[in-house]
Amino acid sequence: MAPTIQTIGIANGGGDCPGLNAVIRGAVRAAILGHGWRVIGINDGFDGLIWTERTIPLTVESIAGILPRGGTILGTTNRGNPFTYIVEDGGKKVTHDYSLRCCENARKLGLDAVIAIGGDGTLTIARDLGRLGIPIVGVPKTIDNDLSATEVTFGFDTALHVATDAIDRLHTTAESHGRVMVIEVMGRDAGFIALHSGVAGGADVILIPEIPFTIETVCEKLREREATGKKFSMVVVAEGIKLPPNDPFGKPYPEQRPGQVGFMIGDSIHNVLKKDVRVTVLGHIQRGGSPSPFDRMLATRFGVEAVELIARGEFGRMVCLRAGEIESVSIDEAVGETRLVDPKGSMVRTARAVGMNFGDQA
Ligand code: F6P
Repeated sequence: MAPTIQTIGIANGGGDCPGLNAVIRGAVRAAILGHGWRVIGINDGFDGLIWTERTIPLTVESIAGILPRGGTILGTTNRGNPFTYIVEDGGKKVTHDYSLRCCENARKLGLDAVIAIGGDGTLTIARDLGRLGIPIVGVPKTIDNDLSATEVTFGFDTALHVATDAIDRLHTTAESHGRVMVIEVMGRDAGFIALHSGVAGGADVILIPEIPFTIETVCEKLREREATGKKFSMVVVAEGIKLPPNDPFGKPYPEQRPGQVGFMIGDSIHNVLKKDVRVTVLGHIQRGGSPSPFDRMLATRFGVEAVELIARGEFGRMVCLRAGEIESVSIDEAVGETRLVDPKGSMVRTARAVGMNFGDQA
């Protein structure tokens, strides 16, 4: 039987992602216009459930104009797990379990259900709050596109456009100067942004976490290009690559950090080939700014379907995209299973077929 719903909450957690506002708008409009519910925005991850003054009413008027806006009007954090909330107390870090307080506050706020938008971490919290009794539905979010339960997450397409545009721009200047350009893109565990932007931007070498590589093989590929008269090369590097333990001269690489691996690869290439190398780290530029039309549409569809899941009483489920249709899976199934690039998959095969190299011996 469909539940009686009067008020729902919306929370988003973890890193921001282009399209979050489009999900919020889709859900708010579907809830108010389609069902006549009240909607409350829970600010800064789940902080608004811990401190209720950090909630805001969301109305059709208050969310007007947010569809093309990057970021999130609710604010977000990747440090706000209510089950293990770390606070500073007298110079010491103290961990609190605020989960029951969240349940109590959800009751006080009159929330009949909550939409949680997030990646693996946020959805795990959502699942666990659901187990404590908060009726919850999930919406997957990450520019990395590494959630296995959905074919694609919103935000990925926008990040891909940004990365491809950067590769295109760097291509022309690389060619003019006969340089090697190293472009570090995001992708903590999965290399989808690097692989897809590399293919779209015509990279010569693509380094991703899923394919072990050596600098020697990368340099060999660049030498081959030189031998055919190509004085410049484009190397796309995912921030989450697994560096070999030592550089080509046997010196251990320093501890690997996002924003730095591109420089480590660039230095190694320069030291081996003695070529002019420039490194660009795209970083959070990939996460900011207006979402692409695809991400706006997907996010809107996700937001609307999250509301419909609530209307049907299908709690503990997460919306997803399968064969172009919006469906749902249990949040429990969805979390904890990272989707990685298949090194033998068709995108990698396509890249290899057009002569791109992954720094391996294949
Ligand atoms: O998971 C999305 C992501 O953008 C990763 O690609 C990246 O490693 C991470 O978030 C960066 O997080 P932060 O914004 O905390 O630096």
